[in-house]
Amino acid sequence: MLGKELSIRIRREIRDGNFQVATTIIFSLSVTFLVLVLATIINDHFKRFVLYEDLSLSPLNAFPPLFSSSPSPHHPCMQQCDHANTLQEWVSPGALSHSMSDEELMWRASMAPRLVEPPFNRTPKIAFMFLTRGRLPLAPLWEMFFKGNEGLFSIYLHTSPEFAYEPSNSSAFYNRRIPSKLVQWGKPSMIDAEKRLLANALLDFSNERFILLSESCIPLFNFSTIYLHLTNSDRSFLSAFDDPRPIGRGRYNRRMGPAIELSDWRKGSQWFEANRELALAIISDVTYYPIFRNYCMPPCYMDEHYFPTLVTKVCPNLTSNRTITWTDWTGGGSHPALFKANDVTEGFLNRVRFGFNCTYNGEVSSVCFLFARKFHPNTLQPLLRIAPKLLGFNP
Ligand SMILES: *[C@@H]1O[C@H](CO)[C@@H](O)[C@H](O)[C@H]1NC(C)=O
Ligand SMILES: *[C@@H]1O[C@H](CO)[C@@H](O)[C@H](O)[C@H]1NC(C)=O
Ligand SMILES: *[C@@H]1O[C@H](CO)[C@@H](O)[C@H](O)[C@H]1NC(C)=O
Ligand SMILES: *[C@@H]1O[C@H](CO)[C@@H](O)[C@H](O)[C@H]1NC(C)=O
Ligand SMILES: *[C@@H]1O[C@H](CO)[C@@H](O)[C@H](O)[C@H]1NC(C)=O
Repeated sequence: MLGKELSIRIRREIRDGNFQVATTIIFSLSVTFLVLVLATIINDHFKRFVLYEDLSLSPLNAFPPLFSSSPSPHHPCMQQCDHANTLQEWVSPGALSHSMSDEELMWRASMAPRLVEPPFNRTPKIAFMFLTRGRLPLAPLWEMFFKGNEGLFSIYLHTSPEFAYEPSNSSAFYNRRIPSKLVQWGKPSMIDAEKRLLANALLDFSNERFILLSESCIPLFNFSTIYLHLTNSDRSFLSAFDDPRPIGRGRYNRRMGPAIELSDWRKGSQWFEANRELALAIISDVTYYPIFRNYCMPPCYMDEHYFPTLVTKVCPNLTSNRTITWTDWTGGGSHPALFKANDVTEGFLNRVRFGFNCTYNGEVSSVCFLFARKFHPNTLQPLLRIAPKLLGFNP
């Protein structure tokens, strides 16, 4: 209305030959417009300034989690995207629960920044990923191990889906279960669970090293020693070797070629440690996984061959080809030794802690293992008695 009247008036003015008045009107309209644009820009900057102040003043975990426990399936943004608008929520999601399918999770977790330097203080964390059926019998030992090192680690638990026990909120394991599925030992579902652990841990961008552990694992050193050993290592500890015996090369199936030749075929311990780059390579594989799923069946076990062969094909220089988790296979057979209460002595633990030679960052080291298995639940009491002093836990 106003515009129409104005243009009629301008046209009339021009027709009347009153050019000066017309110019004045156009000029004042332009000034008004400019003032409006400027006001919007200033307002915007002010808002950004206020948000920035908020970010630097608030404690990091005061932000709402990236994934709420009951996201709306159709329009998750309707309720949530107005909250998930700080970088902190993106790089360090608070809650572990989410409703992503495995396929969605792998895709989301496979994202890596192209800009190498993060625009925040990134303290690298170690992700301790426990693949268990239910409770951790040795949890009290681990609690002692973690105590006082908050901010330097994250815990992830993959349990049986029906397992519902939740420790008290003072426990390091409180609220650390990831959405889990049924695992059958020796089947591809075990690899799926390990990838699920890796992918959930990758969602936190401060996780730099990823260690897979079982319910029968124990730490062999205190937290600070393990933290420094892992974060300073130029390679990961995913074991991969060529075993010429029937229980190695004998499990290779020629139908895996040409993608996987016998010369690519590797064996290794299931209990790996991976840095971020290696973890990303593992969860992003869509080439070799289907081949293993189709052709690696008993007596071929995916958990003994898939990761070692994949890493040898995709990024052989990222791993030291040895594991950091000690297992006693000297007894022979298909099961490693299980240690009971009577076995746990200072001498025994020290033999595992210092009794080997290996290469660490190109130099010979006598610390070759940071973790050990398999420890029976009844080893808890002797371990709680011996470990704090021997391993040097925080008092
Ligand atoms: C932990 O649980 C106790 C009792 O169940 C409760 O009083 C306390 O507020 C909780 N603490 C936190 C940090 O949630
Ligand atoms: C891997 O390491 C070997 C020697 O250790 C080196 O010759 C080779 O160039 C490396 N490859 C890559 C891709 O870095
Ligand atoms: C691990 O094995 C791969 C493939 O066999 C090899 O390329 C790599 O150099 C080995 N890494 C070390 C540290 O020896
Ligand atoms: C490790 O190396 C040292 C020095 O070379 C040697 O004395 C020791 O016997 C070796 N230990 C083992 C378990 O091989
Ligand atoms: C961890 O163990 C090392 C080596 O035994 C020791 O020097 C260090 O003080 C211990 N750290 C803590 C926090 O107790």
